Amino acid sequence: MVKRNCSVFISGQGTNLLNILKHTRDYNFPINIKLIVSNNYKAKGNNISKKYSIPFYFFKKKDLRGTNQLLHILKIKRISLICLAGYMSIIPKYFLKSFRGKIINIHPSLLPKHKGLNTYKKVKLNKDKRMGCTTHYVTEKLDSGKIINQKWFYTEQQFDEDVLKIRTQKIEHNLYFQSLIKIYRN
Ligand code: GRF
Repeated sequence: MVKRNCSVFISGQGTNLLNILKHTRDYNFPINIKLIVSNNYKAKGNNISKKYSIPFYFFKKKDLRGTNQLLHILKIKRISLICLAGYMSIIPKYFLKSFRGKIINIHPSLLPKHKGLNTYKKVKLNKDKRMGCTTHYVTEKLDSGKIINQKWFYTEQQFDEDVLKIRTQKIEHNLYFQSLIKIYRN
């Protein structure tokens, strides 16, 4: 199978990145990760690039020159899909233009519910009966692009924010790789 070149952008732990990476070993998995990008030098996930010998690019959040250079590297590496996995910055408009329809994200809520930050808090405050996660295409409007896939579970009153987070992240790991398969299925 001809695998597409993909780049994963992170800012934190990188558990989603690691999970996708494990699936790339499968011959039938549609993508390979050719570049890991981080905008947080303290991110735990940065080590994954070293451990698995994957090229790594770091840039500071507001470094426009860094972003331009990154765009150039992504083109040279023929990256055809960017996966945001816990990437905590807004993608600039001109960047989106260059990769229109080719950037996806995972969000810890059942979109269109609870866009933006603090989703676990919002679920508690709202007394939601269900909680979950969503993969979606990235557009100019925050967490509003076309939905690719969702997974959910029933919440219980005694679940605090930490429990909600642990349960959500567990299903995120299945959701992301399944979404990648879905994107390239046809
Ligand atoms: C995930 O819960 C994702 O939904 C959110 O940030 C978290 C990243 O976790 N956008 P990790 O860095 O993949 O462990």
